Amino acid sequence: MQSLAEELHSKTDHALVVGRSGPWMDVLKRAAQVAETETTVLLSGESGTGKEVVARFIHRASPRKGGPFVALNCAALPEQLLESELFGYERGAFTGAQQAKPGQIELANAGVLFLDEVSEMSPSAQAKFLRVLQEREFQRLGGIRPQKANVRVIAATNRDLKKAVERGDFREDLYYRLQVFDIRIAPLRERPTDILDLSEAFLDEIGRSFGRPPAGLTRDAREALLQHDWPGNVRELRNALERAAILCEGGLISAQHLSLQPRVQPVSPETTDLSLVERQTIEQVMRDSAWNKSQAAKRLGLSRTQLYGRLRKYDLVMPPVTS
Ligand SMILES: Nc1ncnc2c1ncn2[C@@H]1O[C@H](COP(=O)(O)OP(=O)(O)OP(=O)(O)O)[C@@H](O)[C@H]1O
Ligand SMILES: [Mg+2]
Repeated sequence: MQSLAEELHSKTDHALVVGRSGPWMDVLKRAAQVAETETTVLLSGESGTGKEVVARFIHRASPRKGGPFVALNCAALPEQLLESELFGYERGAFTGAQQAKPGQIELANAGVLFLDEVSEMSPSAQAKFLRVLQEREFQRLGGIRPQKANVRVIAATNRDLKKAVERGDFREDLYYRLQVFDIRIAPLRERPTDILDLSEAFLDEIGRSFGRPPAGLTRDAREALLQHDWPGNVRELRNALERAAILCEGGLISAQHLSLQPRVQPVSPETTDLSLVERQTIEQVMRDSAWNKSQAAKRLGLSRTQLYGRLRKYDLVMPPVTS
């Protein structure tokens, strides 16, 4: 395993990809195999597991490495904007389109287009994107001339796309075009050796950015890291270590500095204050999502606007040390 890890890591910029657990090595192995081809890849995994890390790994190990890597998060933009970002537009395509603008498909020419949270694409964008995968063609909004799409597509999702298809939220034909080659990234809690390797790598990096030697971990800190559930996966781990590295001062991180919160406790029968329960739940989910609002909103089943409203109502803000 060790030598395979080294071989795979040396194929690319090894500093960026940490981990040698069985599940992670399987991911890198599949990624390296598919990298050499032009095949569309679907990466699935919980939020913060490293889907973008793997997408970049594939790009760097592929014949398109000299071309751009263009990432677009389908959940971050309203429907209309997503389409104009993706496909670009001609002058006068809609009110405000005073200049023609190329889309990300054009910008990714000869490179890789990474579509994050692909399950969030609107039906209209899905239909247009299907054409990119099927015909290798697209049109700018308001355009009349079809253009060649010279992109390799890597899509990512933290939702079960198959279920979205069953519910009728995602086109089946697009689903099959995307999941030609799928790679599932295991949650961090299922690969404990990676927890320790990643911690060491992150502490080195954090130390360097602070201009200090890397902080160490006490035995109870290691145990706490291994026991924790990591709902926010690698991103949550990095944030927890950064916070702890600030708090520990003396250079040794204990479990106390990590202050890893247990999962939301079941509501006790005597709790009657609903808004208190709501506040605590939102706070917990925000922490678990490393204060990523679109992810937290999804987990809570709220729209982002609703979540913003609740954060204001309960005066919840990101703790200053977790930058
Ligand atoms: N194996 C790894 N080695 C080094 N850093 C990693 C690794 N996996 C994840 N990370 C880091 O963890 C963070 C989250 O990773 P990434 O953005 O790739 O996750 P994601 O699955 O795309 O998350 P999301 O679903 O929220 O988009 C990033 O800062 C990334 O650099
Ligand atoms: Mg991502």
